[in-house]
Amino acid sequence: MKITFAAKSPVAPETVAVAIFEGRTLGGAARDIDKATGGALGRAMATSRFTGARGQFLDVNAPSGVKAARVVLVGHGKREKIDDLAAQELGGKLVAHLNQAGAKKVAVMVEGKSAGSSAHAANLAFGARLRAYRFDKYRTKEKAESKPTLGRITVVAAHPREAQKAFGRLDKIADGVFFTRDLVSEPANVIYPESLAQQARMLSRLGVDVEVMTEVRMAKLGMGALLGVGQGSDRESRLVVMRWNGAPKRSKAAPIAFVGKGVTFDTGGISIKPAGGMEDMKWDMGGAGVVIGLMKVLAGRAAKVDVIGIVGLVENMPSAKAQRPGDVVTSMSGQTIEVINTDAEGRLVLADALWYCQSKFKPRFMVDLATLTGAVIVALGSYQAGMFANDDDLAAKLTAAGKAVGEPVWRLPLGTRYDKDINSDIADMKNVGKGREAGSITAAQFLQRFVNETPWAHLDIAGVAWSKSATATVPKGGTGFGVRLLDRLVADNYEA
Ligand code: BES
Ligand code: MN
Ligand code: ZN
Repeated sequence: MKITFAAKSPVAPETVAVAIFEGRTLGGAARDIDKATGGALGRAMATSRFTGARGQFLDVNAPSGVKAARVVLVGHGKREKIDDLAAQELGGKLVAHLNQAGAKKVAVMVEGKSAGSSAHAANLAFGARLRAYRFDKYRTKEKAESKPTLGRITVVAAHPREAQKAFGRLDKIADGVFFTRDLVSEPANVIYPESLAQQARMLSRLGVDVEVMTEVRMAKLGMGALLGVGQGSDRESRLVVMRWNGAPKRSKAAPIAFVGKGVTFDTGGISIKPAGGMEDMKWDMGGAGVVIGLMKVLAGRAAKVDVIGIVGLVENMPSAKAQRPGDVVTSMSGQTIEVINTDAEGRLVLADALWYCQSKFKPRFMVDLATLTGAVIVALGSYQAGMFANDDDLAAKLTAAGKAVGEPVWRLPLGTRYDKDINSDIADMKNVGKGREAGSITAAQFLQRFVNETPWAHLDIAGVAWSKSATATVPKGGTGFGVRLLDRLVADNYEA
């Protein structure tokens, strides 16, 4: 889908989208068309439920008096309440509506002449692009009539160059979100540790420094926790370290760091999962996918900050070589872990990735992302991610960033009472807590034992990495949740 910005509508547009505000109040473009058609828009509204409420649509087909074949009335709600997010949602919903209607080309008329109208235009286009995403590379027989029709959006705004410029940055964010969605959607016979590392390597084209560690290297570093998870698989494990050095030369600030769980398939291992729904475990590399997509955004828009991205990549399989329940492994930190349940594997991978990250880079903070627990889905469902943090300031910044981009996080507690639940009788700790009780919290307590004193936050994205139904800007499937959030965290707080 192509998106452009223009000062004027094409002369004979196929479809024109115009704004209607609360109470059937016509925007300027709608007023012009209503006049030219002898009041067709007003009459259409009067015979429908359309009130101009945000997100409502009404098609007026083949009106006489204008060249457009179709005029789409777009309900905007209260004029003063349309912020960036609302504009994105309007753009996304408009795309879905137009594909339903079979429109191919649309001119979207943006109201206003202020600087705000350019931001509105850019955000509308951003939302449209986010919603138009599809993962269809494996469909060879899809009929033309079920494919999306919309191929071109012309956003008509008072200051097209300004709008285009604002969109440029958002476009880079969409590129990163799409990279993440692609990686998450790919099946596990295509995306496995080595091939995912290869995908991360592609970022070197954008100036990201990418290092891929083999099992031999990880063994030398003593990463027994991560390697134990991968040992049952025929696929070799990998640890990828990505570095974006965008801070000004004079900057002496330590880097910031993001760490992702990259279990390219999680069968549960010897503690094997039931068959129903196991295919979902192809997206158990969602945390890694977000970190890789985020690095793409930061490099793409040349963020002025030094960033480390680390992803631990393993496949969790049962086999004669697989780790057994009860095995004790030694992590890079030196702490020993009794592996009670081989399906609690993500924390084992992150244990070594987090420890390595803080010991090697001494970052200002670390944020890890992981599809870590089913329990977080029970707690929060699929609308927000679970957040844990040892640092109130970092937690507050993440909460604010999430709110701003529509990827909300909800903080859950850590505490010594929970920490005690992962003490083991024969090792320093075990990898599960007390039965099903507080499963997301005990998982986070486990991670905390590997962050040392580093300010840290953990986002459990098990409920939000994949969606079973579309929202305004996220089609069903891989969501890329976290990319926009962390880009915003960086942009608002850490860039020079
Ligand atoms: N990858 C799963 C968590 C998960 C479940 C992600 C559903 C997305 C959707 C994780 O590795 C896991 O298996 N966790 C176990 C932990 C338990 C064994 C302590 C869980 O949540 O059941
Ligand atoms: Mn598991
Ligand atoms: Zn897992």
